[in-house]
Amino acid sequence: MRDADAGAIEAMAQAKAAQQAYAGRVWGYRQAEAVAAMIYVGRELGLFEAMADAGPMSADELATKTGLHSRWLLEWMRLQAAAKILVYEPVDRFMLPPEATDILARPASRAYAADSFTGGYPMEQLTGLMESFRTGIGKTYESDGPCAVTKSEARHIKTARNQVVPVMIPALDGVQEKLERGALVADVGCGDGALAVALAQAFPRSTIHAMDPNAHAIAHVDGLVRQHALANLSTFVAPAENLPGEDRYDLIITFDCVHDMTDPQAAIGEIHRRLKPDGTWFIKDIRSKPNFEDNLRNPMLAMMYSFSLFTCMSSAMSAPGGAGLGTLGFNPEIAERMSRQAGFTRFRMLDFKDPGNLYYEVRP
Ligand SMILES: C[S@@+](CC[C@H](N)C(=O)[O-])C[C@H]1O[C@@H](n2cnc3c(N)ncnc32)[C@H](O)[C@@H]1O
Repeated sequence: MRDADAGAIEAMAQAKAAQQAYAGRVWGYRQAEAVAAMIYVGRELGLFEAMADAGPMSADELATKTGLHSRWLLEWMRLQAAAKILVYEPVDRFMLPPEATDILARPASRAYAADSFTGGYPMEQLTGLMESFRTGIGKTYESDGPCAVTKSEARHIKTARNQVVPVMIPALDGVQEKLERGALVADVGCGDGALAVALAQAFPRSTIHAMDPNAHAIAHVDGLVRQHALANLSTFVAPAENLPGEDRYDLIITFDCVHDMTDPQAAIGEIHRRLKPDGTWFIKDIRSKPNFEDNLRNPMLAMMYSFSLFTCMSSAMSAPGGAGLGTLGFNPEIAERMSRQAGFTRFRMLDFKDPGNLYYEVRP
């Protein structure tokens, strides 16, 4: 290698490292905002006081002491442990360390700091969240209104066009050929519809069914169908647990949504029933490990638990008895176990080097 080439490679590596460090700093502030909100929630609900001088506690023990819902407390405790506000002790026990007592749990102390946290998020959102700690019931995506649907649409369009269509679909066994010839595809939990639109445009001989229980999402996708004059894309307001019609699909896609479902096992059973015998279920879900302690290496873990409390686990608890998997709940072990339980026999994990997500090709 010539010296000039080596120099250019070194400069590129340095620029990339500098950008990564900078991104870490910027996202660190975003995470801090979420942790601050959850300190506010902890203070308002009396959680720090309940944990003071109590040693390591489980979520069930904290629930008994406070009268709040154990699953919501567990997600909050995990967030606080990821943020190093609580100390984690395997398995699933959490402690407010002695040095934290005056700062977070003793309003009379000179060191008390918890009352300087004002929530930082819209008060209606925080009030709703705290009500969920009391009732156990979360909120649906639909209850967030129409504006929430398009929050990440620009990013989803880029990923669909630049990654899913040209890189991921060809990596699935035989799927690209089927789509080119003309296949029936369901995008379940389609959200803003960016992927359904990209597939309909890339594979004009195929028919795409975009479905989501959120009527605001489907109204948005209907607008895209009209805007792009897409004759091969139809929409349905429907949950995965009860897919519309009786068609059997060549490809069913669930991107970033199984962990949001109140009954994911029923949904997976329905997907199994509605796939053709040689069909493919293509899953994208959050990259996570089965054990909480293994996830602690993720520097953005606390922020991810805040997404769970505000959105994902909330949706997954939005009906009584909801499974409540939450943002980090559909890890490879659980995904494989639930798939096999539903009758799938082939399960392959695909790692597209996406730092936030893992992918699975699952077949009957
Ligand atoms: C994080 S969004 C992902 C949307 C889209 N798949 C994407 O990748 O951008 C999660 C979606 O799951 C949907 N969802 C929640 N519960 C569902 C269920 N039981 N069946 C199907 N979709 C569901 C929500 O309405 C929401 O649109």
